[in-house]
Amino acid sequence: MPSVTDRYDPLDAEILRDPYPVLAELRQATPVFWHEGMGSWVLTRYADCVRVLRDHDTFARDPRRAGGTVPEPSLSVQTLDPPQHSRIRSLFMTALRAQDLTAIEARAHRLVLRRLDELAGGGVFDVVSEIAVPLSVAVVADLLGVEPPPYAEFAEVSDTIMRSMDGGLDPSLVEPGRIARRQLSDLVDSWFTASARPGLLARVRQASEHNVDALARLYVKNTARVMFQGGYSTMAAAAGNAVHTLLVHPEALHRMRDRTLLGTGVDELVRFDGPVQGTTRTALRACRIGTVDMRPGQKVVPLFAAANRDPAAFPGADRLVLDRTPNRHLAYGWGLHSCTGTTVAQAGLRALVAALNDFPAQLVAAGDGVRRRTATMRAFETLPALLRP
Ligand code: HEM
Repeated sequence: MPSVTDRYDPLDAEILRDPYPVLAELRQATPVFWHEGMGSWVLTRYADCVRVLRDHDTFARDPRRAGGTVPEPSLSVQTLDPPQHSRIRSLFMTALRAQDLTAIEARAHRLVLRRLDELAGGGVFDVVSEIAVPLSVAVVADLLGVEPPPYAEFAEVSDTIMRSMDGGLDPSLVEPGRIARRQLSDLVDSWFTASARPGLLARVRQASEHNVDALARLYVKNTARVMFQGGYSTMAAAAGNAVHTLLVHPEALHRMRDRTLLGTGVDELVRFDGPVQGTTRTALRACRIGTVDMRPGQKVVPLFAAANRDPAAFPGADRLVLDRTPNRHLAYGWGLHSCTGTTVAQAGLRALVAALNDFPAQLVAAGDGVRRRTATMRAFETLPALLRP
């Protein structure tokens, strides 16, 4: 029998279906291991992942700190480290805090109810393309204050970018990803030249007009692109995963009629089966994690999916506990680079779950969903369901 590290192929069909048994085995047998395909040390324990995400001096997000390169279109809040990172992040966070998330949540709730109304009586439909995609495009466009692009067309471009995140495992995905990023950049450029509607982007534009130099302006545009595409794709994947979990646990959906459980429950849903499986950092100096010595320049992957099921951090980690408190999961990352869109994602997920509960017909599974063959992002390609009156 091959060792568990040899059996761990994130793109294997069985692991895509249910990665948690093999992640538990890895955490037990070899919590820090070298993965040849990723060319990285992989961390599966919660405490080790948090340590790396916290220790910004030893573990860089920006590969240039370790002598690497980053293509210009990728220089954004996501790839920069302080001091540039802090400036761009605070620009976007200040603009985000000025947005009315309650109104965004209410509009998202109405949108899901409308979609369900249109789908009722029509037989089996795909939750991903019919609900998760429109909801996510609408929420992110609403937040930014831009016209939502045509759903299906945008989903195609975004999926190509999402797939290119696995470029380390399959280099043929890199070039299509670069072209898709270019297409998306053109769309974002048009938002910066057109007259601004109220929203996050208008605020950012206003704040950066006089105080930001040309280089930072590039970072701002790239960050707007990341907010839109990254926000959309993680939100759509999270919505699909959440609906799947609720189809398997219909009693959980019912219990989330309670507003308190709705709030804690959407966090538990992303801990239980979150979209972002891990992230990458680069060690800047020699260090030891567990029994493993790492060298400067080596890549380290904190595996959120494994950390979020670590029984040392979450009692009953394999159970869905809607009122889990505290619930310091890593589905939104941790520390300096944690998700800037957390509150927006929570609002969108609350709107989705509340609408499923408020709609008179019950959503039920109509066969097995098909998982997307992507390692960094855990998502459904299709998820069939129907509404039972
Ligand atoms: C349920 C949905 C979402 C999940 C699970 C999620 C998850 C994450 C995670 C894990 C990170 C950190 C990655 C790292 O440390 O390398 C991150 C970063 C980020 N997210 Fe999200 N995200 C979601 C939705 C959104 C939304 C809706 C937006 C924007 C509207 C957004 C914008 C961002 C940005 C800009 C970053 C980079 C922050 C930085 O590096 O400083 N995300 N997200």
